[in-house]
Amino acid sequence: MALLLLVLGLSFAGAQKFNPLAVVDKNYNMARISGVWYSISMASNNLSRIKEDGDLRIFIRNIEHLKNGSLKFNFRFMVQGECVGVSMVCQKTNKNGEYSISYEGENKVLVSETDYKMYVIFDMQNIRNGTETRVLALYGRISKLSHNFQHRFKRVCRKYRLSSKNIMDLTQEDHCYSK
Ligand SMILES: *[C@@H]1O[C@H](CO)[C@@H](O)[C@H](O)[C@H]1NC(C)=O
Ligand SMILES: *[C@@H]1O[C@H](CO)[C@@H](O)[C@H](O)[C@H]1NC(C)=O
Ligand SMILES: *[C@@H]1O[C@H](CO)[C@@H](O)[C@H](O)[C@H]1NC(C)=O
Repeated sequence: MALLLLVLGLSFAGAQKFNPLAVVDKNYNMARISGVWYSISMASNNLSRIKEDGDLRIFIRNIEHLKNGSLKFNFRFMVQGECVGVSMVCQKTNKNGEYSISYEGENKVLVSETDYKMYVIFDMQNIRNGTETRVLALYGRISKLSHNFQHRFKRVCRKYRLSSKNIMDLTQEDHCYSK
């Protein structure tokens, strides 16, 4: 009996539930965003930028909140079949949770929401030659998040007028890990 309860307890703990009460969507404590993250899903109004070989299809490794308030993203992406490691420092703006960086044009990077412990959703607006592209990214503290986080991501995407057709699942797509 005790063993059964223990097993049940473990499987509940393993099923990391999405907790709506833990969601933070303003007044972020950016230091708590620091640490290891995995790319779970991305969405964009221009899929060619996040599909294979897309310039914005990135696989996050970790995020560092720097002393001067900037946010450093360490990630990998594929360039002609090769995994390339990149670090990118996004400069803080005077708005909490909002950053800017020049990369393939001008970018605004914002935290959309997070619970710090399991997931974070970033919202990026890229302006290149007058064309605006929006990219949303769901990162998880572990390499696979349960469906309720994906579901939440879909809901956030809808707020930005991105439907399921605009979403790409990246969980099985990180070919840079084994290399
Ligand atoms: C989508 O992205 C591709 C690749 O960067 C670009 O060639 C194309 O013009 C973009 N389409 C739109 C509608 O912005
Ligand atoms: C903050 O520090 C990083 C790393 O040293 C640097 O790249 C960045 O330019 C700095 N940002 C500001 C606003 O000074
Ligand atoms: C912007 O458009 C010009 C002219 O079409 C092109 O040469 C340039 O590479 C484009 N810049 C970017 C960042 O795509």
